Amino acid sequence: MINPEQYVSNNVCKRNVSLVINEFAKELKNISGKCMDVGCGPGDVTRDVLLPVLNSKATIIGTDIMENVVEYANKTYNDKERLKFEMLDIQTKKLPEKYISKFDHIFSFHALHWCYDIRQTFENIYCMLRPDKTMLILSVAHHAALFEPLETMAQDMRYASYMEVNTITSKMWYKKKS
Ligand SMILES: C[S@@+](CC[C@H](N)C(=O)[O-])C[C@H]1O[C@@H](n2cnc3c(N)ncnc32)[C@H](O)[C@@H]1O
Repeated sequence: MINPEQYVSNNVCKRNVSLVINEFAKELKNISGKCMDVGCGPGDVTRDVLLPVLNSKATIIGTDIMENVVEYANKTYNDKERLKFEMLDIQTKKLPEKYISKFDHIFSFHALHWCYDIRQTFENIYCMLRPDKTMLILSVAHHAALFEPLETMAQDMRYASYMEVNTITSKMWYKKKS
């Protein structure tokens, strides 16, 4: 995400997250512990859509792989009491100690379909959760306009070295058989 400010005006993502949140509204208002929003992006969805529906005792750490995005989120949406943002690649093989077994709930919206190592991704989520705690994930399984152009570019020698096909398309992507 080159320009986090521009992404904030993306109402499609806000609407999708609101739909999921409305579906689980009853359960979410009882969530009161430490939460993480994985792949939080610029932070607007975390602060304006997610935080208000949780119990007022819930706190969230929004995490994202991109430094500029985390910087923007901290500058714009940080709330000293309940919300801060940190850098984390959810596919890391060295999960920082400070996250292990520390979370009561993990959220992720529109982010995990970018992960090619989905086993490591879910292993990390599992390790960050305290025993018997829960997660709520919204991910994209198929979107022709999103994935197919990337795969075509990855097969073009001008772009191939930047875009290895295994690293740009998720295993969660449902491919239609031709
Ligand atoms: C489409 S944005 C979603 C932002 C927000 N969650 C929403 O629903 O509007 C996807 C975000 O996932 C982040 N992301 C992609 N791969 C990631 C990874 N391996 N670890 C953490 N964040 C990642 C991107 O940097 C980007 O900010």
